[in-house]
Amino acid sequence: MTRITLHLNGRPAAADADDRCSLADHLREHHGLTGTHLGCEHGVCGACTVELDGAPARSCITYAVACEGRAVRTIEGFADDEVMARLREAFSAEHALQCGYCTPGMLVTARDIVRRLPQADEARIRLELSGNLCRCTGYRGIVRAIQRVLAEQRTAPHRHRGGRRCSLNSASTWRCRRTRCGRPSTTWACWSTACPAPRSPAPWPTAARRCAWR
Ligand code: FES
Ligand code: FES
Repeated sequence: MTRITLHLNGRPAAADADDRCSLADHLREHHGLTGTHLGCEHGVCGACTVELDGAPARSCITYAVACEGRAVRTIEGFADDEVMARLREAFSAEHALQCGYCTPGMLVTARDIVRRLPQADEARIRLELSGNLCRCTGYRGIVRAIQRVLAEQRTAPHRHRGGRRCSLNSASTWRCRRTRCGRPSTTWACWSTACPAPRSPAPWPTAARRCAWR
């Protein structure tokens, strides 16, 4: 057993983890975050997708002990997220789920597509979704839901809750401010594992978090 601390859904969270325990099992069993689903447990179906340092990751093939000090965001951590709220509405409107088992992973991946690829067309959306399997929907509704949110993002100015207009217009794009990175980001740093700047032990930048809508 090893004591590990995660920046979990914006807060520090510590728990013991068996050395061979996956991040998915750790989240479900020690943190009660059962929105992360397990399907294949082989890194194929994407049901277990969570955000790790700001990028989607398969939690079933990620060791929990390898996540010490890293930022993990599960589907529960997106409750107040503007982009995720729009995606949830669009998934419902476009019939993008039936049993819902794949949906938490689908939503995490869909949000990443919306944030990273604002001009994505259907072919690109399907390519980006290829790591998430759904046995129910045939994907058409899922693709339509993502297209719907992308279209809204391109045309509608963003408003905060209560209707206050965001100072960022829909075309604004934040960039990671880490040295030499510059990836699109909704925070001061993108937390991508590909970001060339050193990461740990920097704290999760909740205070510097900006509007989640680009
Ligand atoms: S359960 Fe992790 S990819 Fe299928
Ligand atoms: S909605 Fe059932 S697996 Fe996708």
